[in-house]
Amino acid sequence: MKELPLRLLLVFTFFSPSIAGDSLTSTTSLLDGQTLVSTSGIFELGFCSPGDSPYRYVGIWYKKIPVQTIVWIANRASPLTDYTGVLTIRKDGNLVLLNSMAEVLWTSGLTVSASNNPIAQLLDSGNFVLRAEESSSPESFAWQSFDYPSDTLLPGMKLGWNLKTSLNRYISSWKSFDDPSPGSYSFRMDPHGSPELFLYRESTKIHASGPWNGLQFSGIPQLKPNEFFRFSFISTQDEVYYTYEMNKGSVVSRLVMNTSGQLQRFVWSAAKQAWSVFWSDPKDQCDHYAECGPFGVCNSSQAPICSCLTGFQPKSPQEWNLRDGSAGCVRITPLDCKRDGFVTVGNMKLPDTTIASVDESMSLDECRESCSKNCSCRAYASANISGGESGCIIWATDLIDIRNFVDGGQDLHVRLAASELAKMNSGRSSDNKKVVIVNVLIFSGLLLLGIGGCCILNKKCGTTSLPSFSRRGPAAYLAKEHCSNDEISASKELDLPFFDLETIVAATNNFAIESKIGEGGFGPVYQGKLNNGQDIAVKKLSEKSSQGLDEFKNEVVLIAKLQHRNLVRLLDEGKRSLLSWQNRFAIIMGIGRGLLYLHQDSRFRIIHRDLKAGNVLLDREMNPKISDFGMARIFGDDQTHARTRKVVGTYGYMSPEYAMDGILSIKLDVFSFGVLVLEIISGKRNKGFYQSEQHSNLITYAWKLWKEGKSFELLDESLEDLHSISEVLRSIQVGLLCAQEQPRDRPMMSSVIMMLATENAALPEPKEPGFSSGRGLVDIKASIQSVNYLTATTLQAR
Ligand SMILES: *[C@@H]1O[C@H](CO)[C@@H](O)[C@H](O)[C@H]1NC(C)=O
Ligand SMILES: *[C@@H]1O[C@H](CO)[C@@H](O)[C@H](O)[C@H]1NC(C)=O
Ligand SMILES: *[C@@H]1O[C@H](CO)[C@@H](O)[C@H](O)[C@H]1NC(C)=O
Ligand SMILES: *[C@@H]1O[C@H](CO)[C@@H](O)[C@H](O)[C@H]1NC(C)=O
Repeated sequence: MKELPLRLLLVFTFFSPSIAGDSLTSTTSLLDGQTLVSTSGIFELGFCSPGDSPYRYVGIWYKKIPVQTIVWIANRASPLTDYTGVLTIRKDGNLVLLNSMAEVLWTSGLTVSASNNPIAQLLDSGNFVLRAEESSSPESFAWQSFDYPSDTLLPGMKLGWNLKTSLNRYISSWKSFDDPSPGSYSFRMDPHGSPELFLYRESTKIHASGPWNGLQFSGIPQLKPNEFFRFSFISTQDEVYYTYEMNKGSVVSRLVMNTSGQLQRFVWSAAKQAWSVFWSDPKDQCDHYAECGPFGVCNSSQAPICSCLTGFQPKSPQEWNLRDGSAGCVRITPLDCKRDGFVTVGNMKLPDTTIASVDESMSLDECRESCSKNCSCRAYASANISGGESGCIIWATDLIDIRNFVDGGQDLHVRLAASELAKMNSGRSSDNKKVVIVNVLIFSGLLLLGIGGCCILNKKCGTTSLPSFSRRGPAAYLAKEHCSNDEISASKELDLPFFDLETIVAATNNFAIESKIGEGGFGPVYQGKLNNGQDIAVKKLSEKSSQGLDEFKNEVVLIAKLQHRNLVRLLDEGKRSLLSWQNRFAIIMGIGRGLLYLHQDSRFRIIHRDLKAGNVLLDREMNPKISDFGMARIFGDDQTHARTRKVVGTYGYMSPEYAMDGILSIKLDVFSFGVLVLEIISGKRNKGFYQSEQHSNLITYAWKLWKEGKSFELLDESLEDLHSISEVLRSIQVGLLCAQEQPRDRPMMSSVIMMLATENAALPEPKEPGFSSGRGLVDIKASIQSVNYLTATTLQAR
């Protein structure tokens, strides 16, 4: 350790500790002991010695945080050995750090001189920029510290490439706690194929984020937008990068590549006056790059953690048995190019995409087609799962670094020889004999059982024990008797298992009145318990039901086909308390996602037709579930609207074109969603809403407030927390957009979700809404009226 020359410490006293302001000009210099402070006093730049370092560095740290936290260092690799450093702007326009011998230890490295009047300014974002005095726009920065990160990614910094200048911005670890020189680990983007972020030890990949799938990185499902952070991934011809912003200005956060090779996201806790780790990555062994080798799949809750993709076997069974999966897997049957098919595996982190080819403009069907036609194609997947599946990634090489998630990830379609696919199918039909089904797990434990008038038990089908569940989603079961053979085979196709009536009678205590938990459109719903302890819900078709058997079957079949966490049918009596704004917003988002799934993401295009408060159920965690598929209609892929003679639905939620002309399209659901959003915000019902004489319903009232610029008054007055005014206003505007008179003006659910979720989304101005109940629609058969009281009261919550 070098002794610092003592005489130089005296120099301090001749200078004020902070030179005025946030900038250096060509006539001022920064000496050790002086600092620049950004305008609002957020960041400070000056000379520092990190940890126990004997050396001096020019760094940036948080001004207001008492624990000195250095976020950037200029001369990482060339420290000053004493207190004589000077930071100044040289004649050629470059920022330079000089030692006492006037040697240049560090420079901003510009080759063209920037301007005649350069200034170097520390911004409130923590960015230290060199620019012409006259111009402060970001485009005019000749140099900025954000382009040369150290180990920290601050909000607004870009992690990735400027493709025009080949500037690669990445973060790299310090060597140690008190040595900021570049260490072994770095986190950087590979812009090839579908760009991914990789964690490197020296030049070896040790962890991959997976490609950005439009919503998040396919390998980091925990990284999702939340109320604090907004993540984005920008990919244009000129630039490709990842960045994030803070939603709440008061939260201070930073992402750090730490010295032991972990990414850590810190959040400053004002209460504890300390940094706390919000998130870190890699998390488990499966995050280790290519842990299971080519065509191997990693599952961290399995032992051993590696398995082969369907149709593949371990390349080296012996190593595999010794729990070394790195050799990976090989095909059981070679491809023959002409007659191959695909097997779809779900919840996957996509394999390394840097060697894949990507076409954002293709649809998934075109993608499949293109993969089928190209003999070297091994697998394909959607490049963008935001708002449906679109875009195309094609792998013509080994698939490396695949893992699966319980929740998250996406579908990967792997090419297999026809004979392998045939093997799988015969495997499945033997399952059918057991009449076990469905890839499903109800997460808080209620299964829906439908029992129709005609549908009571069929001994021929056999009885079944409950299947072992493998995935989240709804389950539906049918008990049948006297069903036609067609119906039985149709339900077999759906893999519906059957229960005998005795089981159900036993489970519900002979449909005891105490077991009854609600009354749906078709009849009563009972709670029961099977012998094995599984909680079930049993829905019984009532003879008095206004709906027929067909609708009832329709519902059971739809629930069996549909798998989405916002569609599960769950009942809960517990939560009748007032709903906070956070709860309400989460409910709005949940319903929106459920609808989006129905409209776009599921394999069918489904119009629910009867979306209303009473058909939204809340589970214990207040997750909303859309229920009652009795009226839902499945549309063909290309069909966008139809006309129906039988107008059914609920008064107050029906769009004008549907109520009056029977025109049925997904925009009907969008309208109902709009009404529901306004109801959830206001805590009032659309129908039977009387604020004053002029407003016969809630939509009219909301529209009036909107026009008067007072829409915030719509908010339920029982809501006190006003943290989220912008969220409330955005939701009201989205509600009104959905309830517009003209179906073509109403947004698609994918846009609705985006508008709701995006803090600064530029929302269109809503046009006048359709006032569905104000137009003399006397003869509407508003048939399904019975409401599930539990949820109706929760949502009304007053
Ligand atoms: C790096 O981050 C990991 C994960 O948060 C943590 O366990 C480890 O202690 C950190 N290493 C250092 C040197 O801070
Ligand atoms: C991972 O393995 C566990 C234990 O075998 C299993 O329950 C789970 O379903 C597997 N995960 C996935 C996504 O297949
Ligand atoms: C097949 O796909 C690979 C990888 O995408 C591509 O390089 C090759 O040109 C394609 N071949 C044909 C015949 O299209
Ligand atoms: C992904 O899809 C969404 C919805 O269709 C679209 O808005 C977005 O621009 C797409 N992203 C890319 C990178 O193409």
